[in-house]
Amino acid sequence: MLAVSFCLALSVQAQEVHLTTDAGAPVGDNQNSQTAGPNGPELLQDSHLIEKLQRFDRERIPERVVHARGTGAYGVFQPTADISALSKAVVFTPGSTTPVFVRFSTVMGYRGSPEQARDPRGFATKFYTQQGNWDIVGINWPIFFIRDAIKFPDFVHANKPSAITGVQDANLAFDFFAHTPEATNMLTHLYTDEGMPDSYRHMDGFGVHAFKLVNAKGDVHYVKFHWKSEQGIHGLRPQEIAASIGKDWNLNTNDLYGAIKAGNYPKWDLYIQVLEPNDLAKFDFNALDDTKIWTGVPEQKIGTMTLNRIPDNYFESTEESAFAPSRMVPGIEASEDRMLQGRLFAYADTQMYRLGANYQNIPVNRPVVAVNSEDQDGAMNTSGRKGDINFEPSSVNEMSEDPSAKLVRTELSGTTQQQAIDKKRNFLQAGEYYRSLSEQDKADLVTALSADLNHVSNDGNKYTMLSYFYKADADYGTRLAKATHADPARVKTLADKLSAD
Ligand code: HEM
Repeated sequence: MLAVSFCLALSVQAQEVHLTTDAGAPVGDNQNSQTAGPNGPELLQDSHLIEKLQRFDRERIPERVVHARGTGAYGVFQPTADISALSKAVVFTPGSTTPVFVRFSTVMGYRGSPEQARDPRGFATKFYTQQGNWDIVGINWPIFFIRDAIKFPDFVHANKPSAITGVQDANLAFDFFAHTPEATNMLTHLYTDEGMPDSYRHMDGFGVHAFKLVNAKGDVHYVKFHWKSEQGIHGLRPQEIAASIGKDWNLNTNDLYGAIKAGNYPKWDLYIQVLEPNDLAKFDFNALDDTKIWTGVPEQKIGTMTLNRIPDNYFESTEESAFAPSRMVPGIEASEDRMLQGRLFAYADTQMYRLGANYQNIPVNRPVVAVNSEDQDGAMNTSGRKGDINFEPSSVNEMSEDPSAKLVRTELSGTTQQQAIDKKRNFLQAGEYYRSLSEQDKADLVTALSADLNHVSNDGNKYTMLSYFYKADADYGTRLAKATHADPARVKTLADKLSAD
């Protein structure tokens, strides 16, 4: 009898939640700090007050250097085809379900900036596979602005808010782009209505770069990944943007979370394009140039992703998530794309700075499989590793390597060099894309792009930009020239001097 009432007392007590310090001690008064008498200063011995202020003072961590404004959701990936002939990665095993975390983002704005930004949208997916984590860190288009990682910091500096005013400035952005003709294709995509998605559910995602898939026999295929939205694609027209910002500048987050809360789970189908290594040379552009689409290569569907859960802690999921193109699993490897190669370094590097050396142990980043590396210690380590065999090989340590996880061999030739790629074809696909647009999409593109070009006060930069668009397509360039009050004959003369390459 006595034992029963003791248990009851315990369970009643367990339901009462006391406010505590970070060390778990109950707090007596959370409204009044301790002072020296009624009118005296606060006391150093009020450790609850001091800890509370100290913790508050340290709540912010560095925001991402790009893609700071983002929204995350959990879900699952389910393969729909057997591609074991292409890849040995177990994430593609038919019948399996792999948990995922996805973070959508804008690129240049600060952490709390409006979601209506003339920006690509980040579409980063972390697959928690049975062989460790695999990340596809992509965007909503199959291409990018530049093709060499060495230009990325300059590209970002020119497009982020000005170093003087803290405000984005079209003069700075187009000063960079006037020296970057390879951006013409991406800029043409950026200023269409798709450049302003009305919802994260209404956009596709792309891995952009080529990757290698490797099967159990060691055969290599080059692939590109494409998430196709089952919700369709929809963007805001230029004349709708101002009203949309006025109504709700968090529209993409509110839309995504609203849909998930209502049980209307968004889905994307994963498609791949596949090339034999020998086929890379068959294009009239460089197939490993990320400013190019692999035109004419069919896509095959390999799986479906469903987002079905909103994280219950923004900071610990969306903010502390860490995606990296270098995070791959056996059966998926990097291609020689020069942008991808730089990204293989940059993400894990920035994350060690932004989140600390043990960032992969934060729950949102932690693999679902055991981690048996000999990496140890460092700030905020909670890995719980045991024993004094913190090295490998060891006669005591029984961990073994997995020969099936060894990377493929790639044949190389030539000398070390610093040279631009061949077959740049800077304007070809921008023109093809422009001509594929409907009349309304063309008109909206010209409206949106000319609005920003009209802010460019450097005449030389403005005409150079117009010549790039003219080189892509004469009608495109002529309409832009008209909308920016430029001389079409001067634009044409400049365009004629550009190499079609
Ligand atoms: C060499 C070129 C590039 C470099 C050096 C670079 C660097 C970075 C860095 C440092 C971050 C912040 C990561 C973090 O703090 O966790 C980031 C985020 C991101 N980047 Fe890049 N980036 C490059 C190109 C690209 C390209 C081509 C794409 C698209 C295919 C892309 C997509 C993203 C996405 C989606 C994020 C946000 C990931 C998230 O939601 O946490 N980046 N990038």
